[in-house]
Amino acid sequence: MQIEGQVVLITGASEGIGAACAAAFRKRGARLSLTARSEDRLRAAGGPDALVTPGDITLPETRERVVRRTLEHYGAIDILVNNAGMGLYTAAWQASDEDTRRLFELNVFAPLALSRLVIPHMRERRRGMIVNIGSMAGKMTLPWFTLYSVTKYALGSLTEGLRMELLADGVHAMLVCPAYVKTSFQKHAMGSRPPAKVVKGKNFAISAEECAADVVRGVERNARTVVTPRYGWIIIAVARLFPSVMQSQLAGINRHV
Ligand SMILES: NC(=O)c1ccc[n+]([C@@H]2O[C@H](COP(=O)([O-])OP(=O)(O)OC[C@H]3O[C@@H](n4cnc5c(N)ncnc54)[C@H](OP(=O)(O)O)[C@@H]3O)[C@@H](O)[C@H]2O)c1
Repeated sequence: MQIEGQVVLITGASEGIGAACAAAFRKRGARLSLTARSEDRLRAAGGPDALVTPGDITLPETRERVVRRTLEHYGAIDILVNNAGMGLYTAAWQASDEDTRRLFELNVFAPLALSRLVIPHMRERRRGMIVNIGSMAGKMTLPWFTLYSVTKYALGSLTEGLRMELLADGVHAMLVCPAYVKTSFQKHAMGSRPPAKVVKGKNFAISAEECAADVVRGVERNARTVVTPRYGWIIIAVARLFPSVMQSQLAGINRHV
């Protein structure tokens, strides 16, 4: 999809990957509608022309407000980037019900509900794209992050399903699976600390700007799945071909929390 002039609605756009996506889409001439809870940071990320709608995206009223305001302001939504998300560093069997529900509300139910609000408008115009920011953790389960992986597998499956459901309607769905990206994601995650090796892995992390550049390129070529950085595909292939080897490696990292 050509990006110039398109209306792009991005969740979690106040910092990290979402803010970098806002900058990358704006550079390509997109018109932006941004949402997250912190208004000041949204304004800084969006520049003078962006439409900013602050609020908690897990609340139905925020989702309805951001869609309504975007349609009133721009008359259309061409691309929805479901980016807002968070982690939970707790063993699945120990996680509280409250944290688990919070995680699913943000990582799964919010993107699903927002997609439900936006897709009818896209179908009517027979054009549009849903971009879901998943994770490599949605391609291979990480034992220090099991429930996060569950949410990202769910988001990946949702993306594939929407793509097939909407194939005849001119609406596309793209999944993005970043590996490690330098943002405050770990700091914002619920639960305890990740294993030391995972923290050290930050040395190999890509920047939010590199991740956003891959998102934008993916949109331009109507990609189905974007893995960023691209060598992530090799790790996914190894996990698929040799699951027992991969799982014992990951379990080993997890033992040394
Ligand atoms: N960083 C990584 O290594 C990595 C790797 C793979 C996938 N991802 C995925 O990439 C996405 C973005 O992550 P990030 O690294 O950029 O994380 P981040 O730096 O923590 O940013 C998260 C964004 O989500 C917003 N947000 C959080 N809770 C919200 C809520 N209840 N309502 C509305 N907005 C909310 C935050 O804004 P406010 O606080 O202002 O609301 C912020 O803009 C997530 O889906 C994450 O799972 C990240």
